[in-house]
Amino acid sequence: MPRPELQAPPEIFYNDTEARKYTTSSRIIEIQAKISERALELLNIPNDGVPRLLLDIGCGSGLSGETLSENEHHWIGFDISQSMLDVALEREVEGDLLLADMGQGLGLRPGVIDGAISISAIQWLCYADKSSHEPMARLKAFFGSLYRCLTRGARAVLQLYSENMNQSEMIMKAAMRAGFAGGVVVDFPHSTKARKAYLVLTCGPSSTQTSLPKGKGEDGETCSDDDESDDDDEQTVGIYDRHRPAKRSKITKKGKGKAWVLKKKNQMRNKGYTVPPDTKYTARKRKNHF
Ligand SMILES: C[S@@+](CC[C@H](N)C(=O)[O-])C[C@H]1O[C@@H](n2cnc3c(N)ncnc32)[C@H](O)[C@@H]1O
Repeated sequence: MPRPELQAPPEIFYNDTEARKYTTSSRIIEIQAKISERALELLNIPNDGVPRLLLDIGCGSGLSGETLSENEHHWIGFDISQSMLDVALEREVEGDLLLADMGQGLGLRPGVIDGAISISAIQWLCYADKSSHEPMARLKAFFGSLYRCLTRGARAVLQLYSENMNQSEMIMKAAMRAGFAGGVVVDFPHSTKARKAYLVLTCGPSSTQTSLPKGKGEDGETCSDDDESDDDDEQTVGIYDRHRPAKRSKITKKGKGKAWVLKKKNQMRNKGYTVPPDTKYTARKRKNHF
């Protein structure tokens, strides 16, 4: 079965039938809850009992958002599929729901959100479903708007299923260009089933950066839903430094020199062109102003 992203655009793939099938599968419910709990853990919100305002990007029918509600946080869910949001409404999830394409930016006020999660959704931005879609431009619009709406020091934790290294790199590049610091935390890196990659991003100047948390799967820690995970004896944490493109150094206009001008004039003469005679003024440096 090909990946959902290769089958149809998300708003078509997650139609009424698929949205219901997705939300009633006990396997999916369990997996998405586990991933969301881990994402919330990686958000590293202070344990002070104060509810925070969080985003759930690509919230679907609200399976991931439920974890936020269970932990007493308020949340706003974005999704492009009307059918998924209809199921979320039917389920009476506690978050506020917005029908929106994250690839067009989130359109929120600056600095108002305390953190964001996204579960199994952002890899969709790597696919061009319309002739107007340019994945890198959509990723930039998304990460730029996410960066702006977060409070300084806040985190965004985005669990994703990228198809290949190119996609992971493209996503990281867009995030770093937006100004985020952070990297990828991989849980159960050697397990095909339990392996999960989380992009853990921090918003703000480098002074607010904290070191990346470690991935799970060390010291024989196993994952119950994966029979291969007993082999996991190592955790993989990919750390990427913030790397905004260096400002282009000013290119100073440098003259080519008298010898070069004389040589060129000779070449032109040899070709039969009329060239002014060489004098002491040839190729002289002009003043910046008259
Ligand atoms: C696998 S579902 C995950 C839903 C939910 N996060 C969960 O854990 O159950 C992926 C969701 O991402 C949404 N999605 C994909 N591309 C999107 C886009 N460009 N903007 C907003 N949502 C998008 C899909 O509509 C779908 O509901």
